[in-house]
Amino acid sequence: MKANTPILITGGSGFIGSHVARLFVERYPDYGIFNLDALTYAGNLENLKDIEDRPNYTFIKGDITDEIFINDLFEKHRFEGVIHLAAESHVDRSITDPLAFVKTNVIGTMVLLNAFKNIWHHDFSGKRFYHISTDEVYGTLGNTGLFTETTPYDPNSPYSASKASSDHFVRAYGETYGLPYIITNCSNNYGPNQFPEKLIPLFINNIIHQKPLPVYGDGNYTRDWLYVLDHARAIDVAYHRGKNGETYNIGGFNEWKNIDLVKLLCKLMDEALGRSKGTSERLITFVKDRPGHDLRYAIDATKIKAELGWEPSLVFEEGLKNTIKWYLENQQWLDHVTSGEYQNYYQEQYQTR
Ligand code: NAD
Ligand code: TYD
Repeated sequence: MKANTPILITGGSGFIGSHVARLFVERYPDYGIFNLDALTYAGNLENLKDIEDRPNYTFIKGDITDEIFINDLFEKHRFEGVIHLAAESHVDRSITDPLAFVKTNVIGTMVLLNAFKNIWHHDFSGKRFYHISTDEVYGTLGNTGLFTETTPYDPNSPYSASKASSDHFVRAYGETYGLPYIITNCSNNYGPNQFPEKLIPLFINNIIHQKPLPVYGDGNYTRDWLYVLDHARAIDVAYHRGKNGETYNIGGFNEWKNIDLVKLLCKLMDEALGRSKGTSERLITFVKDRPGHDLRYAIDATKIKAELGWEPSLVFEEGLKNTIKWYLENQQWLDHVTSGEYQNYYQEQYQTR
């Protein structure tokens, strides 16, 4: 690509997006990286404070569902690549407010696809639309088996249904208009800067404050966990070396039952905080289950390894220790994001469980 190639990253102020934006800004000085983010409750300028003055980085506040604004932005900057991460991303919120997920995840993706198509449809060569998706579109596994790229879509939550829908539109634009796209479907991420509504940062925050740890149902649900920097590396590899029109699954080969993960987290937190053994485990509280709770996610990530040479680099305990260290060293970040609105969210989400 030519010097100063303009690349749009959407949702760059969120959890995964901030790690992707930093990686691209640092590794590719010849790209002009534009981070477009609406700064919803999940977006936070503090996440990218360390790179905000870099000459190849620009932040733009804006909403991907705002068609006029997005079309103007594409006309102005003529983005040659789009790495689309902006989304409503939390399953529990999708259960209380599904329409917000349709708006951002489906309509927002459509607005971006149209803007990209309008600019480049005469000649798509050298251009790329990269859509970041989730393994949750495949629905749930039983006790055995893995999701592959050919597993049929079978989403169960409004979140996963909205992501599945957006994936279908991206694919349809590829088939219908020849739009050059790739999609990756990744398993559960964890690491620094994750908003404390998701399991790991929520429980770290609660352990710090010695609050109950609300485990849904019997805790025998399984997720496949991947360190966020490994996901960012996979996105780099897929963006640069993936084949147009292809889907790649990304996962950690790292399955944990929630209850086992929570016990490990409690042990590591006790060690990090100098608390006596068993202190945090006593906070575990089994609460009412999540409706439509998927039993098990597990990714077969052999295609991305075989074709693009990516694989996870960290073992889970090491990644968890890094994550705990980051949250303990950045309690101000946690305090900022858990003040105000978060308190209302927490009350509504957990008071009736
Ligand atoms: P996040 O909730 O932490 O961040 C989402 C970001 O998008 C925020 O910065 C938010 O301000 C921004 N945003 C939301 N609505 C917007 C809008 N209408 N216009 C512009 N910006 C908007 O999410 P995340 O966990 O970093 O996930 C990023 C992407 O990766 C999502 O597409 C998600 O579906 C996907 N994904 C996440 C995981 C995971 O474990 N977190 C796993 C697989 C895939
Ligand atoms: P989460 O981090 O919300 O990710 P996802 O639902 O997208 O997999 O949840 C991970 C697992 O932890 C999931 O099985 C639900 C469970 N969970 C709890 O048991 N308690 C909680 O408070 C939360 C947020 C999640």
